[in-house]
Amino acid sequence: MASPVHNLLVLLLFFVSFPCSNSKLSVDYYSKTCPQFASIMEQIVSDKQIASPTTAAGVLRLFFHDCMVEGCDGSLLITSTSFNRAERDAEIDQSIPGDAFDLVTRAKTSLELQCPGVVSCSDILATAARNLVTMVGGPYYRVLLGRKDGLVSNASLVQGNIAQPTMAMSDIISLFDSKGFSVQEMVALVGAHTIGFSHCKEFSHRLFNFSKTSKTDPAYYPKYAEGLMKLCANYTKDPTMSAYNDVMTPGKFDNMYYKNLQRGLGLLATDQALSVDRRTKPFVDLFAANETAFFEAFAHAMEKVSIYKIKKGKMGEVRRRCDLFNAAKND
Ligand code: HEM
Ligand SMILES: *[C@@H]1O[C@H](CO)[C@@H](O)[C@H](O)[C@H]1NC(C)=O
Ligand SMILES: *[C@@H]1O[C@H](CO)[C@@H](O)[C@H](O)[C@H]1NC(C)=O
Ligand SMILES: *[C@@H]1O[C@H](CO)[C@@H](O)[C@H](O)[C@H]1NC(C)=O
Ligand SMILES: *[C@@H]1O[C@H](CO)[C@@H](O)[C@H](O)[C@H]1NC(C)=O
Repeated sequence: MASPVHNLLVLLLFFVSFPCSNSKLSVDYYSKTCPQFASIMEQIVSDKQIASPTTAAGVLRLFFHDCMVEGCDGSLLITSTSFNRAERDAEIDQSIPGDAFDLVTRAKTSLELQCPGVVSCSDILATAARNLVTMVGGPYYRVLLGRKDGLVSNASLVQGNIAQPTMAMSDIISLFDSKGFSVQEMVALVGAHTIGFSHCKEFSHRLFNFSKTSKTDPAYYPKYAEGLMKLCANYTKDPTMSAYNDVMTPGKFDNMYYKNLQRGLGLLATDQALSVDRRTKPFVDLFAANETAFFEAFAHAMEKVSIYKIKKGKMGEVRRRCDLFNAAKND
């Protein structure tokens, strides 16, 4: 029969064995359970970025898309099975480069050797995105840790949560607003397009058959449109053709993206529209004129993205492999 003392012991054991199940996120979440976390992340991320400079943009987009669908829970890292079409196979996510996923795998492998079963994939992704932004010249911001990895990854949940370059500005503003992001935060976040690439199909509608009166979008600076037309001439035959999002300083995280918009050098239709719409233009002008203001706004908005709908306790798990749920059978 259970004595009161026994009950007390059971209760104590319960609290001792699940010390984190309800605990808050914190920057030093792994300081006791995986003290090497920060240094391992630092090493793996910088090695990868030096070897493959496209990693930074890929990881930043991967992280943002992961967060906007089901929260920052690593749902975008899961691979499809014959029973489940996973998030990463949604059309919009198929262009995320393999290097971005590879970085997460590398970090996870290294962390599992040092502290098995401790660090979540969603914390790895959030930290990698921050480290990379800083590494390519952007601001440093705090990343709170202690996310759990999600238990759902479903391609059908993507649509409606990720903006497309053909959307009207009002719809983009509403989409961000529905997730708690102001117009200023949205304009700052899209400043992520200061690095990385877009495939021709994302902006070809602005180049070849724009309207009855103009083959190309007149919002483009003419010489820029000319260059893009040449670059994308064969894009239907070679769908890998892509252009830099920021044609002036493509690999550097800076405020050049906003300066470009003011000169007709915005690649996507939604990029260019930011500098035209009366609700967004004031922020484009502010960020173009003042890089510090952009960095502060971006850092702040990214901290907010990083904790969007995160899962704690039993709402998630610490995956053993980032591409598989723990319940999945490993064949
Ligand atoms: C108006 C909202 C947005 C739209 C319509 C949009 C759309 C796109 C599109 C179509 C691409 C090209 C993808 C490809 O062809 O591979 C792209 C690339 C990218 N986007 Fe966005 N995006 C938006 C907001 C954001 C935000 C908020 C972030 C991050 C905070 C972000 C980060 C990136 C990055 C880093 C790339 C380059 C990816 C690479 O080089 O692999 N985007 N975006
Ligand atoms: C994915 O989501 C769709 C739409 O909500 C739903 O119909 C479908 O059953 C889900 N698939 C899985 C495997 O849960
Ligand atoms: C251009 O667009 C018009 C109207 O959208 C369409 O009727 C026409 O077939 C298009 N032409 C080409 C070459 O795609
Ligand atoms: C486009 O394709 C043609 C024929 O396949 C080739 O001769 C040409 O060099 C290509 N142009 C570009 C810009 O890739
Ligand atoms: C630029 O923005 C920062 C941060 O908001 C502000 O402190 C600074 O005064 C601004 N600089 C100028 C020249 O307006």
